[in-house]
Amino acid sequence: MDIAGSVVVITGGGGGIGEAMALAFAEAGAAHVAVVDRDVAAARRVASAISGTPYGIDVSDAAQVMGMVDDVIEAQGRIDLLCSNAGFMTGKGLDADLDAWRTTYDVHVLAHVYAARAVLPSMLARGSGHLLSTASAAGLLTSPGDAPYTASKHAAVGLAEWLAITYGQHGIGVSVVCPMGVDTPLLSGWMASDEVNARSVTSAGDLMSPADVAAAVLEGVRSDTFLILPHAQVSTYWQKKAADPQRWIAGVRRSKER
Ligand SMILES: NC(=O)c1ccc[n+]([C@@H]2O[C@H](COP(=O)([O-])OP(=O)(O)OC[C@H]3O[C@@H](n4cnc5c(N)ncnc54)[C@H](O)[C@@H]3O)[C@@H](O)[C@H]2O)c1
Repeated sequence: MDIAGSVVVITGGGGGIGEAMALAFAEAGAAHVAVVDRDVAAARRVASAISGTPYGIDVSDAAQVMGMVDDVIEAQGRIDLLCSNAGFMTGKGLDADLDAWRTTYDVHVLAHVYAARAVLPSMLARGSGHLLSTASAAGLLTSPGDAPYTASKHAAVGLAEWLAITYGQHGIGVSVVCPMGVDTPLLSGWMASDEVNARSVTSAGDLMSPADVAAAVLEGVRSDTFLILPHAQVSTYWQKKAADPQRWIAGVRRSKER
């Protein structure tokens, strides 16, 4: 899709990858960027830098997401691109408390459902529009230190694929971005929490800057690419896993023990 002149919504836009995406879309000539974050001060800070509109909402609340989408459409006339990007890590295994399990699904999966349900009717009526979700390399592979994150990001990738298959012939583009380590507050907090977590990130390669991820996202949206992989090695790992899952799992297990 053309980014110049487009109306863009980015959840989790108050920091990290979402902030970099908001700045990059504005720089590329988007007509308007709505910056959505539960941290309203962060949403205001980013929106004011690009003359966008801040929305201080929690994306795990369906009514708040639908209200925000309706408001943007009323104010701007349409939404061309909706980026469901908000996310967080738990740093927990199977024993994560059930609230943490549910919240990861609320934020990483159901929030994408709410956004798609809210915006698709108007996109389908126009015959154009684009949905982008930020999943993770953990949604194709595994984040060894975080069970709820891994499982919910796999669900996010599955949902994006379903949306692409179901709505692609109606003029709707769908992209899912699956980065590995990106230098943001989310990742630095998680790496600081546990030595194994930190090693699993550093052994996989250098951290990427949020701006470089945003550049890959722009390129992917422009070219209507479904699977956006800012880190080239993710494609190699994913193919190795598909070719021999048993061997892949044994290799990851060994790397955890090192
Ligand atoms: N940083 C990485 O290494 C990395 C790698 C792969 C994928 N990701 C994914 O990228 C996305 C952005 O992560 P980031 O690294 O920029 O993190 P970040 O913590 O820097 O930014 C995430 C933003 O989302 C907001 N947010 C979280 N929960 C929310 C909610 N319920 N409602 C509204 N806003 C909410 C936060 O306030 C924050 O501003 C996430 O989905 C994350 O899982 C990150």
